[in-house]
Amino acid sequence: MLSKKLGIKLYIKRDDKTGLVTGGNKSRKLEFLMADAVNKNADVVLTTGSLQSNHAMLTCAAANKLGLKSVLVLKGKEPTQFQGNLLLERLLGAEIHFVDAKEYGEVYKLMEEMMADLRGKGKNPYFIPVGGSTPLGAVGYVAAAEELFKQADEMGLKVDYIVNAVGSGGTSAGLEVGVRLFERAARVVGISVDSEKQVFQEQIAEIAKECAKLIGKPISIEPEDVIVFDEYIGEAGYGKPSKAGNSAIELVASCEGIILDPVYSGKAMAGLIDLARQGYFHPGSTVVFFHTGGIPAIFDLLKD
Ligand SMILES: Cc1ncc(COP(=O)(O)O)c(C=O)c1O
Repeated sequence: MLSKKLGIKLYIKRDDKTGLVTGGNKSRKLEFLMADAVNKNADVVLTTGSLQSNHAMLTCAAANKLGLKSVLVLKGKEPTQFQGNLLLERLLGAEIHFVDAKEYGEVYKLMEEMMADLRGKGKNPYFIPVGGSTPLGAVGYVAAAEELFKQADEMGLKVDYIVNAVGSGGTSAGLEVGVRLFERAARVVGISVDSEKQVFQEQIAEIAKECAKLIGKPISIEPEDVIVFDEYIGEAGYGKPSKAGNSAIELVASCEGIILDPVYSGKAMAGLIDLARQGYFHPGSTVVFFHTGGIPAIFDLLKD
């Protein structure tokens, strides 16, 4: 129904169904990151993110599945009520530390100290940077691109555009590598939910280059080759719902029975809808929207 409204052939890749609690794009990155942790005999994994970080919550779930402990360092004050991802993290049994936004700039240094402390106690910690957006994490999205193109081939579809939310860049980087590796004409269109366009263009190109090296297929990708729109971050910025994002959530819920989230996929869909209405996608083109998950945040952020 949404396809008809937008004048494109819209497909939604349900990466909100990737497994591990409520699913999401982080499960795909963690598949590779946690394998590395296990290969290195880690017994505790440390990561960081915002108070409603999907990545942090899914890291706990993956760690539990593999018998590792998890330590989270989250940006912000400890809330009086644990909702959304925080509630899930509590259920998953994570050790959670809160760092005031003013001191968060030093978070990696703080985590180095925590790891030194753990080593002193005979533990073997494994560190995952914010969002799991390392070249290794991005390999998860090279695999996702392979899966997407296989499914598209089976359905006789030629994918023209792939649209996804950009928060730390790993998802887009993996998709950019995938498009080149599998020699497809699809353009990856990133919708920023945080930083401005140029920052992400550089970041994505950098992660993509390193990711391609890791899988032994050097590819050429420069910042100017990366498409990012930064007009849909919203009035209140990262982590806060936007008017357009909330309208997109309502539209997709009413047309398709699919729930998006207010921090990532709702804003990315707001971008897709606006771009379709502006005629950015050529008429009748096949657009795949990656639903990257994020559902738990709804219960904390969409209160009425
Ligand atoms: C639900 C959801 N969608 C999209 C993203 C963005 O992905 P990336 O960090 O790989 O840019 C994230 C994480 O930041 C996320 O949690």
